[in-house]
Amino acid sequence: MVAYETCQNHMKKPPHTDEGTTPRRATVSQMLGLLSGTYRKHRWRLLAGFAALLLVDFLQLVIPRIIKSGVDGLTSGTTGRPELLKLGLLIILIALFVVILRFTWRYLIIGFSRLLERDIRNHIFSHILKMDGPFFEKRTTGDLMAHSSNDLSAVQMACGMGMVAAVDALVMLVAAIGFMIAIHPFLTFLALLPMPLLAVSTRFLSGRLHKHFSVVQAQFSLLTEFSRSTLVSIGLIKSYTMEQFQTDQFGHLGQQYVKANLRVARIQGLISPIATLVGNTGMLVVLFWGGKFVIEGQITLGDFVAFIIYLYMLIWPVMAIGWVANLVQRGATSLGRIHDLVSSSALVPDPATGPSSDSDQPGFRLEKLSFCYPSTPLPVLKNITLEFGPGIHGITGRTGSGKSTLCKLLTRLYPVNDGQLFFADHDVNHFPLSQIRSQVGYVSQEPILYSNTIADNISLGRPDASQDEIEMAAQNAAVHRDILSFEKGYQTLIGERGVKLSGGQRQRLALARALLCDRQVLLIDDGLSAVDVETEQEVFAGLKRYFKNKVVIIISNRTKLLSMTDRIIVLANGQVENIGSHERLLAENALYRSMYEKQMRSQSDGELRVT
Ligand SMILES: Nc1ncnc2c1ncn2[C@@H]1O[C@H](COP(=O)(O)OP(=O)(O)O)[C@@H](O)[C@H]1O
Ligand SMILES: [Mg+2]
Repeated sequence: MVAYETCQNHMKKPPHTDEGTTPRRATVSQMLGLLSGTYRKHRWRLLAGFAALLLVDFLQLVIPRIIKSGVDGLTSGTTGRPELLKLGLLIILIALFVVILRFTWRYLIIGFSRLLERDIRNHIFSHILKMDGPFFEKRTTGDLMAHSSNDLSAVQMACGMGMVAAVDALVMLVAAIGFMIAIHPFLTFLALLPMPLLAVSTRFLSGRLHKHFSVVQAQFSLLTEFSRSTLVSIGLIKSYTMEQFQTDQFGHLGQQYVKANLRVARIQGLISPIATLVGNTGMLVVLFWGGKFVIEGQITLGDFVAFIIYLYMLIWPVMAIGWVANLVQRGATSLGRIHDLVSSSALVPDPATGPSSDSDQPGFRLEKLSFCYPSTPLPVLKNITLEFGPGIHGITGRTGSGKSTLCKLLTRLYPVNDGQLFFADHDVNHFPLSQIRSQVGYVSQEPILYSNTIADNISLGRPDASQDEIEMAAQNAAVHRDILSFEKGYQTLIGERGVKLSGGQRQRLALARALLCDRQVLLIDDGLSAVDVETEQEVFAGLKRYFKNKVVIIISNRTKLLSMTDRIIVLANGQVENIGSHERLLAENALYRSMYEKQMRSQSDGELRVT
């Protein structure tokens, strides 16, 4: 706890969370709150769906009654062939209705579960996009993807088929047993004796089935991920002659996948025979005792036949009880996890309104700023006091000195304490995040480009930009000529199906993207590292033109680039070691001088080699 005394920027936690971004276990009503909006919105759809479902159940229950009347008519001799034909036609008519109604409820209710899934997915996605750095340190990408696939489908299943099966099973169970009791209560009791065994075994088997099925899915993703990574790195694999090794690995994974699938198949193979076995045990009881009751005249032959049909009708609802219990349990666990995710709150404050900063001079001021990451108690930035007003500022320092961390604080990805970081002379904690971010442009060392045209990549932050504006930004980022050298110019596709750009070209494209947004502040975090020395000057001239009276912060370890800036800040171990012009740092700062000398040497070596 000692370290917290110097570093308290993540001690401020939202009141309802116990560990920064992880909320307490959700209550049932909180979890259902996630669903209630969609249920309310589609209540008529659900009502119509369940009405159709109940009607199907009713019609199915009528069929044994019709058969009973036919059989009884036959035994008493009152029914002839025309009557039998009529009964047959009636059954076909009912079956026709059942087809239509079944389609209707499936469409309405399963459709509803898909709508519900979409709503929750959108909720998760928009929530994730609102989150900050500490959140993404805790949640891995795989974790987040699992929420939007496995957990979501578990909830969708529980609220779709689970809900249907629960209602359907309950109605069929009550009605069929009711009809059976009406025929003969004692016979019903005897026939139902084996049924609990069916419910319990289905519950057990469907639990195992789910477990093995998850293994199948996991094996399948391993397999696809393996082939993907192999294909992506095919050059590497060939150069290390790893083809056989990879093939063996692939074969091994395939074998595991088959094994997992066979385990699923074994359980699936068990479920239906067990149901048949239990059903037939009931049948044995009915044949023996029911037959006796028919002979004794307690029930008619028609009753006997109807009873057998009702007994068969019971098998599915009894199995459904075990299955639904599993679905609901899984759905609830997943819904709990989703609730945890969407109720985690960001640590960076985001007030709804902020101070009006239009009249103020944009720029950052750091007042004894200290910072440490939530995962480690040691401060990464210590007691930094600096001002970034209009002009071009260079920042340099060894790897790990805290340069990128500073960028993350300026772009408001991580929380800072009150009174330590100011934007346009107001505490950053009083600004809505969007208000600051809309004034700060950012270029990272490894630019992210999308598989899209060059023009679309540049206009990412301003999709409405005209072609002229896009070209102007590209010219200022010294990448216009490179773009024109491609056959399709600005319409060239980048990425897997398009051209491969060099590291320097990618960085300059990212710079053009930032220039087009025309923000008051531009942060370049080592974003010119791959640009060659000749182009560097051109890029710098473009920056100077574009950012007159604005704030540019360039993080770099290239002394040639730094020498062009207005002043240079040297960071060491999270502290400001020196500030000054290129000349002054050459004279005063050992690190800077050695960087300079090393780069001059390697440059002249390069020149010697060229000549
Ligand atoms: N997300 C993080 N969690 C914990 N420590 C981090 C994190 N990111 C960076 N650090 C640590 O902070 C220090 C400064 O890192 P960084 O700002 O990336 O340095 P630079 O950009 O100057 O190379 C390093 O010691 C690094 O290990
Ligand atoms: Mg860095």
